[in-house]
Amino acid sequence: MGGKVYFGDNLPILRGMPSETADLIYIDPPFNTGRAQTRLRLKTVRDQDGDRTGFQGHRYRTQKLGQSSFGDTFEDYLGFLEPRLREAYRLLKPNGSFFLHMDYREVHYCKVLLDQLFGRECFLNEIIWAYDYGARTRKRWPPKHDNILLYVKDPKRYTFNADAVDRIPYMAPGLVGPEKAARGKLPTDTWWHTIVPPGGKESTGYATQKPLAILKRIVVASSNPGDVTLDFFAGSGTTGVAAYQLGRSFILIDNNDQALQVMAKRFEGVPDVEFVGLDPTPCCASSRGFACGFSGSA
Ligand SMILES: C[S@@+](CC[C@H](N)C(=O)[O-])C[C@H]1O[C@@H](n2cnc3c(N)ncnc32)[C@H](O)[C@@H]1O
Repeated sequence: MGGKVYFGDNLPILRGMPSETADLIYIDPPFNTGRAQTRLRLKTVRDQDGDRTGFQGHRYRTQKLGQSSFGDTFEDYLGFLEPRLREAYRLLKPNGSFFLHMDYREVHYCKVLLDQLFGRECFLNEIIWAYDYGARTRKRWPPKHDNILLYVKDPKRYTFNADAVDRIPYMAPGLVGPEKAARGKLPTDTWWHTIVPPGGKESTGYATQKPLAILKRIVVASSNPGDVTLDFFAGSGTTGVAAYQLGRSFILIDNNDQALQVMAKRFEGVPDVEFVGLDPTPCCASSRGFACGFSGSA
């Protein structure tokens, strides 16, 4: 299964695509947080004169490898999103599914917009992705979740592979018997999963990178092998990695050259991946310090 990665503003690119192209569309647009999303890429090196103390009292020096960022302030956020959501609807196959990843600041406005575009009867779920990382404010309940809206084009005919979804442990395994306890249960619409830890194995260094396990759960449940997945706010390309590992093809779009460089590094060695609009030479990405974070194959 191959893929295409486009560089540029997604709206004209989407408008150039034929209707009913994708079986599954997942998008994770900027959340309109009002500040630039920036991730510093750091490396620590053992150094007697270093600035921090680590495991067993060893001294380390912090090296700045670079940073990636994209703007996240919109005067008219819904005005920006609306034509893109309209294109998503047009590009979805008749039995396709659409996931919109948001946070609590804008999700309710987007829900109303999507109800108008798809019809209320096509709304399937609001998935809460709950995590626990970073500072906790003491001025209100610390917000530690994202909201993922799921719509289908046809509520009577859509893909949902419940049996293929990874299972989670029962909260009280003693109450369900050993066989059920060993098998685990289907997750609900609340998903507990850590964020991608900065500097961890999965991290590409791209700001707002989403966990591969979240995307794999979405792709495995709402598409079939051989299907086409589309993510037109692709960032580090997590949707493409999930699709590739699960035997689906992918189309990714981003207007940030740093995102394309991260994706080039992530898809290095994967056959049949075409970059359109920018040649993000992989050696360039390595020299800028991007981690690969890609492993496994279909
Ligand atoms: C929240 S990030 C996506 C992160 C991604 N889900 C991941 O796992 O890495 C949003 C992305 O949308 C891109 N973006 C914002 N406006 C865009 C536009 N008009 N066209 C294409 N990409 C855009 C940004 O460059 C950024 O990479």
